[in-house]
Amino acid sequence: MASAILGILLVLVPLLLSAEAQARGNLTLGNSLTANDQNSSLLSLSGEFAFGFRKMGQGAHLLAIWFEMIEEKTIVWSVNGDDLAPEGSKVQLTANRGLVLTDPRGRELWSSNLNATGLAYAAMLDTGNFILASASHVNLWDSFSRPTDTILPTQQLDLDAVVRARYSEMNYSNGRFIFRLQTDGNLVLYATPTPLVVSDAYWATGTRGNGFRLIFNQSGQVYLTDRNGKLLNKVTSDEVPTSVFYQRAILEYDGVFRQYIHPKMANSSSGWAMVWSMVSSPVPSNICTSMNRDTGTGACGFNSYCTRGDDQIQRPRCHCLPGYTLLDSTNEMNGCRQDFAPQSCDESKPETDQFVLREMLNTGWPMSNYERSESQTEHWCRQACLADCFCAVAFFKDRKCWKKRTPLSNGRMDPGVGGKALVKVRINNSTSKATGNRQKKSKNLTLMIIESVLLSSCVFVSLLTCVIYRSSRSRDYKFLQPVQINQATGTRTYTYWELQEATDGFKEELGRGAFGAVYKGVLGSKDTNFVAVKVLMAWTGESEKEFEREVSATGQTNHKNLMQLLGFCNEGQHRLLVYEFMSNGSLADFLFGSSRPSWYKRVEIACDVARGLSYLHEECTRHIIHCDIKPQNILLDGSLTAKISDFGLAKLLMANQTRTTTGVRGTRGYLAPEWFRNMPISSKVDVYSFGILLVELICCRKNYELKAEIEAQIVMVDWVYNCYHNGSVLQLVESDEEASRDIKMVKRLVMIALWCIQEDPALRPTMKKTTQMLEGAVEVPVPPVPSFFTTSI
Ligand SMILES: *[C@@H]1O[C@H](CO)[C@@H](O)[C@H](O)[C@H]1NC(C)=O
Ligand SMILES: *[C@@H]1O[C@H](CO)[C@@H](O)[C@H](O)[C@H]1NC(C)=O
Ligand SMILES: *[C@@H]1O[C@H](CO)[C@@H](O)[C@H](O)[C@H]1NC(C)=O
Ligand SMILES: *[C@@H]1O[C@H](CO)[C@@H](O)[C@H](O)[C@H]1NC(C)=O
Ligand SMILES: *[C@@H]1O[C@H](CO)[C@@H](O)[C@H](O)[C@H]1NC(C)=O
Ligand SMILES: *[C@@H]1O[C@H](CO)[C@@H](O)[C@H](O)[C@H]1NC(C)=O
Ligand SMILES: *[C@@H]1O[C@H](CO)[C@@H](O)[C@H](O)[C@H]1NC(C)=O
Ligand SMILES: *[C@@H]1O[C@H](CO)[C@@H](O)[C@H](O)[C@H]1NC(C)=O
Ligand SMILES: *[C@@H]1O[C@H](CO)[C@@H](O)[C@H](O)[C@H]1NC(C)=O
Ligand SMILES: *[C@@H]1O[C@H](CO)[C@@H](O)[C@H](O)[C@H]1NC(C)=O
Ligand SMILES: *[C@@H]1O[C@H](CO)[C@@H](O)[C@H](O)[C@H]1NC(C)=O
Ligand SMILES: *[C@@H]1O[C@H](CO)[C@@H](O)[C@H](O)[C@H]1NC(C)=O
Repeated sequence: MASAILGILLVLVPLLLSAEAQARGNLTLGNSLTANDQNSSLLSLSGEFAFGFRKMGQGAHLLAIWFEMIEEKTIVWSVNGDDLAPEGSKVQLTANRGLVLTDPRGRELWSSNLNATGLAYAAMLDTGNFILASASHVNLWDSFSRPTDTILPTQQLDLDAVVRARYSEMNYSNGRFIFRLQTDGNLVLYATPTPLVVSDAYWATGTRGNGFRLIFNQSGQVYLTDRNGKLLNKVTSDEVPTSVFYQRAILEYDGVFRQYIHPKMANSSSGWAMVWSMVSSPVPSNICTSMNRDTGTGACGFNSYCTRGDDQIQRPRCHCLPGYTLLDSTNEMNGCRQDFAPQSCDESKPETDQFVLREMLNTGWPMSNYERSESQTEHWCRQACLADCFCAVAFFKDRKCWKKRTPLSNGRMDPGVGGKALVKVRINNSTSKATGNRQKKSKNLTLMIIESVLLSSCVFVSLLTCVIYRSSRSRDYKFLQPVQINQATGTRTYTYWELQEATDGFKEELGRGAFGAVYKGVLGSKDTNFVAVKVLMAWTGESEKEFEREVSATGQTNHKNLMQLLGFCNEGQHRLLVYEFMSNGSLADFLFGSSRPSWYKRVEIACDVARGLSYLHEECTRHIIHCDIKPQNILLDGSLTAKISDFGLAKLLMANQTRTTTGVRGTRGYLAPEWFRNMPISSKVDVYSFGILLVELICCRKNYELKAEIEAQIVMVDWVYNCYHNGSVLQLVESDEEASRDIKMVKRLVMIALWCIQEDPALRPTMKKTTQMLEGAVEVPVPPVPSFFTTSI
């Protein structure tokens, strides 16, 4: 019934206006409004609403509708928040497209894209609706059915209607929060970027199958009805006398849906007040605690926490953790970044004493845990976090200790949280900055032996990095007499003295990794036969047998996309390994450097790495999990063939074994979720890391980059999924012409990557299957929604 009344109103109001509104509420074909200092606008008959330009800053205008009679001149609808109109822009009523907004040079900023004929005039109605109508007053287009962030009395939303919050109080660009009456009948609030699945809502009416229309009626009630107009759910519910109050309901930039009233008296000083109701307003009642999603960042962005304000509307406030600062200083809701270098994961310099824990009570990040220990003391919890380079925050409550990693999401400070959060902060961050510089310098060298980030429990395997460039096999051993050749593996043993000679007394240091330094050397008589010799630090490994077994197994790997082990030195205290000279450096430099490598080259590299891994996992005699696939560990030879290097973390599997348990190893950002879950580790961890690498190859960007201007793109895999989901894959390679032209392949790679980063290892394809999909030998099925994107960072 209500909708019938509305329908009549929509038809009647323009009719009523038609007599005398020309001066006020009517714009005829060809007429226009110009953005200038006069705030050019068109008033409704009563003068209560205005349509036109609002000045937002120096020479920047917003085409909008607002309450004209009150001091705040509150905007209720707008179109070009993302692209403000310069001085002199105009909006014109044209016969075939309706309203068209152009800047002074004629560039179109927005248009109503009217898809109808017979347009005669546009009118600002007293309801706040702006309509385009035919001469016979048929409504062809209206602002009420295209809401921005506000709805007004008499306005209604039909299935699939979306109300989207603005970016911040004064910035009318699109914000993160969305209020939507889904086509399934559920009315939901959710935060982007999240895949559009129902479970991601932070508030919902739960009216799936029944919800049909959202109505804001004239007595000031906002409610949901079913198909027959029956009331299903009151969203805000107190009756408000419309004759005395202006009203609006808005999804605000903080993600909360609120209803406001304002006395109509012209000189009232009370302003807008929120309508409080026992039933539901505001929606949700506390956004800080209602955000508990696995995906997304929470109400306040990453690495922050949310508190409920004590002002009249209880506006949530966002704060950075101690030691963290705002990502965007103009918007506290955009999250924070760590203001100090993260703890080194290098076993040999644990940096435990470089960090302190700052206590915070009643503060939690419920979705960021990676480890939980029971029956512990607070002292134990503190020590455990300090000693763990992945731990950003420890949380202690009821003798339980949780470790949390960055990016921390869904943070809140609320009495309901309890417990004690211990935030790890670097005492002095200048030292670590210096280390960072040194690392950078070493990466500038042409000969790349990449430092591995080695974690506990993998000392022994680190010693099998004995890899020599295969093509140098045929070299002349004039200076390096083989002492002994291991018949089983084909690897050579060298004496310490030989390698000392080859490196001219370890003269030229190329880089320094967690387990030792790397020196440039020359093998054979030719001066061009460069190699790199890695000198491992004091032997701290497990048994000699273990060492030999590992070395011999790796020595058997023989594949053009793997660096092959040719020899090593195992003499007294000395453990030395020989690497090949890779003239084109690491994939990391290649990919994230100044000039973007060609799209086809990137595709080729993806195939190279996949083949190498496939071989490691399935084809070589002993199955090997690499455990640390990342662009820094992929090296490129002179012809840009990619080779997997640094088996420092590799885990060998027994012939009949496919899973193993082991401590966390690998590199932040590339670790599969099971590393954090005390689950057995299988070769699928490499598949996960490969998925991340593939995403980076597609986008030429690091997966987790807090510098990204667009919040939605901070965690790239989330962004990639969203783009795939809404069919805008092209956006991923926007500025990359070559890739844009090969969009089918881009999409294929994206789908493969999404398969590889599935949270459930069983869902991830094997590397063999992945290789076949990359090569186009098999079809790529539609990937399922990954449920836990940010977990692994
Ligand atoms: C607006 O102008 C058109 C054309 O002059 C006229 O037909 C229409 O009745 C007017 N409408 C209003 C609301 O004044
Ligand atoms: C135009 O609108 C802006 C913002 O509402 C206001 O600051 C300014 O005074 C207005 N200018 C005129 C000429 O009314
Ligand atoms: C215009 O409307 C017609 C009929 O409603 C529809 O078939 C057509 O696809 C629309 N065109 C555009 C560009 O939306
Ligand atoms: C609004 O915020 C967006 C996103 O940060 C920014 O790009 C834009 O420049 C801002 N607009 C104004 C007018 O400040
Ligand atoms: C508005 O909706 C409420 C709740 O359904 C109802 O009680 C009230 O009568 C309605 N008012 C009007 C003017 O339709
Ligand atoms: C508005 O303010 C004036 C002076 O402050 C006062 O005389 C008048 O009564 C007020 N009007 C209303 C409707 O409150
Ligand atoms: C770390 O150093 C930077 C630059 O020297 C400084 O701006 C920042 O405040 C420091 N952070 C902490 C937590 O001391
Ligand atoms: C911080 O590091 C700098 C550079 O290493 C050193 O000079 C300074 O003494 C350190 N300060 C503290 C408090 O450790
Ligand atoms: C390496 O470093 C040197 C000196 O710092 C610099 O001149 C050179 O351009 C760097 N090379 C590359 C490839 O960055
Ligand atoms: C790769 O290395 C070769 C030899 O050093 C060099 O000529 C070539 O420019 C490099 N290619 C790229 C893409 O860096
Ligand atoms: C592997 O095979 C050996 C001998 O056949 C057997 O003793 C061992 O239990 C097997 N391990 C697994 C994990 O199946
Ligand atoms: C698709 O999603 C991406 C990432 O969230 C977003 O930037 C883009 O605007 C979306 N495109 C469409 C057509 O919705």
